[in-house]
Amino acid sequence: MKGLIVLFLISGVLSHSAQEWQSRTIYQVLTDRYYRNNGDTSGCSNLGNYCGGGFVGLMNKLDYIQNMGFDAIWISPIVTNTPGGYHGYWAKDFYSINSNFGTEQDFINLVNALHSRGMWVMVDVVANHVGPIGEDLSGVGQINPFNQASYYHPYCAINWNNQWSVQNCWLANLPDLNQSVDFVKNGLLTWIKYLVTKYNIDGLRIDTCPEVPMSFWADFSKSAGVYTVCEVFDGSITTNAGYQGSVDGTLNYPLYYLIQDVFKNNYSLYKARDFMAQAKTAFKNLNVEGNFVDNHDNARFLYNFNKLNRFKNAIAWSMTWPGIPILYYGDEQAYAGGNDPNNREILWPNIPNTSSTMYTFVKTVVQYRKNNQIWNYDWVERYAADNFYCFSRGKAMMAFSNTDTNIMYWVTYHPYSVGNVVCNVFYANDCVTVTSQGIPVYLDGGECKLYQLKQ
Ligand SMILES: *[C@@H]1O[C@H](CO)[C@@H](O)[C@H](O)[C@H]1NC(C)=O
Ligand SMILES: *[C@@H]1O[C@H](CO)[C@@H](O)[C@H](O)[C@H]1NC(C)=O
Ligand SMILES: *[C@@H]1O[C@H](CO)[C@@H](O)[C@H](O)[C@H]1NC(C)=O
Repeated sequence: MKGLIVLFLISGVLSHSAQEWQSRTIYQVLTDRYYRNNGDTSGCSNLGNYCGGGFVGLMNKLDYIQNMGFDAIWISPIVTNTPGGYHGYWAKDFYSINSNFGTEQDFINLVNALHSRGMWVMVDVVANHVGPIGEDLSGVGQINPFNQASYYHPYCAINWNNQWSVQNCWLANLPDLNQSVDFVKNGLLTWIKYLVTKYNIDGLRIDTCPEVPMSFWADFSKSAGVYTVCEVFDGSITTNAGYQGSVDGTLNYPLYYLIQDVFKNNYSLYKARDFMAQAKTAFKNLNVEGNFVDNHDNARFLYNFNKLNRFKNAIAWSMTWPGIPILYYGDEQAYAGGNDPNNREILWPNIPNTSSTMYTFVKTVVQYRKNNQIWNYDWVERYAADNFYCFSRGKAMMAFSNTDTNIMYWVTYHPYSVGNVVCNVFYANDCVTVTSQGIPVYLDGGECKLYQLKQ
């Protein structure tokens, strides 16, 4: 009897669907940059190579992430890389764990620690290419299991204006796998199923999706059997929407550019109205897109733009707009690094700092999203102007601005009833009683406010 129960428990692998991921909030870490396994908090002299972060360090510092309310983390690819692959995108052996990050047991312990906290793990995976081994593929023998030159497309550099070239040529000199070769296709499908089930992975972030034919991703996603979110580094709504169905969602680059445009480049906030009109019809399900302000491939929002209020608007927007929010590590410490690798700072000096302005801000927004379960409610535009935008999800109403002056708008079309008292989540005393005139929304110096019914 006991044996039966144990058998049931260990075979009861819980994989998590896109539907289940909708309520999650993801914190993105570069495994090498979060916390060192040995706890050494000295600096790192070269951000272009390993700095020493790993699975043990991450496991020991999960409170920092969980205290902000995040219930999932996205980590770097875990497989063994060719030398210098501190980011994880240079696979060498698909069937072993990158020893720079720790042992296989360390990784298993990390996943168990996350699961026992009710947190999920999203692993970054690459199926387009492997680590650099020469344009002539002379080092191909060291790649496991894709150890023959015939498994790769012959060398050519990508021409981004030609889709054939994007799929068949090499990205940044990285050997490009040919998924039309049966051994490669089947090898990748077998591998991803193995990886997900062996390590109890809850979701996948998939690298470089446009660089491989869409039909492959449909098979890959099915074989994985968990939520999959694709990197489609493209601002086009139509292009991104085209992936839904083959995979669950994409990293929402269209939204990323909208946020840059309105909060950094001072475009009119009417742009958001046009954006949503297009997005609503294009996407099958906006709620499973991955929303973000920053990531490891772009200069951070605050780089050369020292405007914290704009940044707060951007972060709050990404977390309340339809989709699954992803916060890039360091944003909660107002990191401002420029292009790769300067945007891949070490986090450990700031780990003790859980009362900084942005840490507190992020925590408040994540809690607000969760308390109001906004993923369960339709998005409704409430007000649009050049320097002001307001939308709601259920009884949560969010007001944003992209000006440096003080503004006030009467929001007359709102989700509340006359007599309701609504409060701005950032200041306990900032409450207002709804009258037949509506709600007067005062935003000073470009702040944003998140309203909810008085608790
Ligand atoms: C990829 O492999 C297929 C199947 O072997 C082959 O027909 C095709 O020519 C290869 N593509 C390139 C660009 O080499
Ligand atoms: C947007 O406005 C701010 C002033 O609030 C200014 O610092 C910034 O340079 C402007 N950006 C552009 C792209 O015009
Ligand atoms: C914590 O954050 C505050 C505000 O951003 C900053 O002034 C302080 O230096 C930080 N402390 C540490 C230990 O990083």
